[in-house]
Amino acid sequence: MANTLRESYNKTNYKLGNHGKRNVQVLKEALQEIDENVESDIYGQGKIIEDFQEKMAKLLGKETAVFFPSGTMAQQIALRIWCDEKDLGKVAYHPLSHLEIHEQDGLKKLHKIETILLADETRVIELEDIKEMENGVACVLLELPQREIGGQLPSFETLVQISSYCKEQGIKLHLDGARLLEVLPFYQKTAAEVSALFDSVYMSFYKGIGGIAGAILAGSREFTSQSKVWKRRYGGDLISLYPYILSADYYYEKRASKMAEYYESAKELAAFFNECEGIHTLPIVPVSNMFHVHFELEKAEAEAILTAVQKMTGIGISGYINVINENASAFEISLGDAYKDIPTEIVREMFGVLSGKISEVRREK
Ligand SMILES: Cc1ncc(COP(=O)(O)O)c(C=O)c1O
Repeated sequence: MANTLRESYNKTNYKLGNHGKRNVQVLKEALQEIDENVESDIYGQGKIIEDFQEKMAKLLGKETAVFFPSGTMAQQIALRIWCDEKDLGKVAYHPLSHLEIHEQDGLKKLHKIETILLADETRVIELEDIKEMENGVACVLLELPQREIGGQLPSFETLVQISSYCKEQGIKLHLDGARLLEVLPFYQKTAAEVSALFDSVYMSFYKGIGGIAGAILAGSREFTSQSKVWKRRYGGDLISLYPYILSADYYYEKRASKMAEYYESAKELAAFFNECEGIHTLPIVPVSNMFHVHFELEKAEAEAILTAVQKMTGIGISGYINVINENASAFEISLGDAYKDIPTEIVREMFGVLSGKISEVRREK
């Protein structure tokens, strides 16, 4: 019996989000066509890593790029380099940026870098926030899309204005582009066109791309050669990174061209959620393949409804739900290959069941 939300989710035949299970098959699929005589990279050198770095530098329109095991490592290093260059240990970013809330204060503890929080938690950073910030910041980091608020984005015009303002002021601009490819269909720009507004860019290979793990950090030759020194200091210069690189490349080739499809799926699915009384998505109309689903119900009520709907319909909506406050709860969803496997009729039926269950609970209140 699937009694918990997670169990009921795991037992469903279909899933609304992601690309499928994150099991060992993900790596096996990536390696199946690779010649067994291909040689490993060795401590950051060798054809396998150098070719991929060059390919990603080209994609991002930067002089050079370096492959890292994680974005956490790559971005702390990027900010450290910009702070050292200015001899100024201060950076600015969003209050809900990954560095601020998910990295155990790595930037502050390891580098003694001070942070200034721009904008309030509920919205993206605008030009005014940067103009109004105190003087003496080495670097501003923008996260596109801003994940913790459902994946929202500033307009492209705002990015252009922020970029030229930072240039004028001698402030470096770094892109947390963990989900850079995922926002390109909304902006109708290439990765290089967006990256051109930034001095340094990080992109992930296990989010929309769906690889195992890994990140690329791109910028000028001078910047990336310094980043390689820090990668070694961090213990990120693994003797062999090829399982991550090969899977990053394989899934990049498989999915980079599907971001517009995921974006369309996200808009369609968000519209279904927004038709249900007591549910809304953030943003209402997604601007990438991700969004948050908010229930006007306390966590335990939403959990019970989702568990029941997943058991009845065989469609996996979510394996978790977080508390927002005593009357509200939410989960995140990112669209990938899995959604297209579900016949639309079945999705519609599931939303009928979900709507019915929510109405029942609300009536009983
Ligand atoms: C916006 C953002 N930045 C950075 C990271 C860090 O990436 P990694 O897990 O590779 O350290 C993540 C990971 O979830 C992220 O969502």
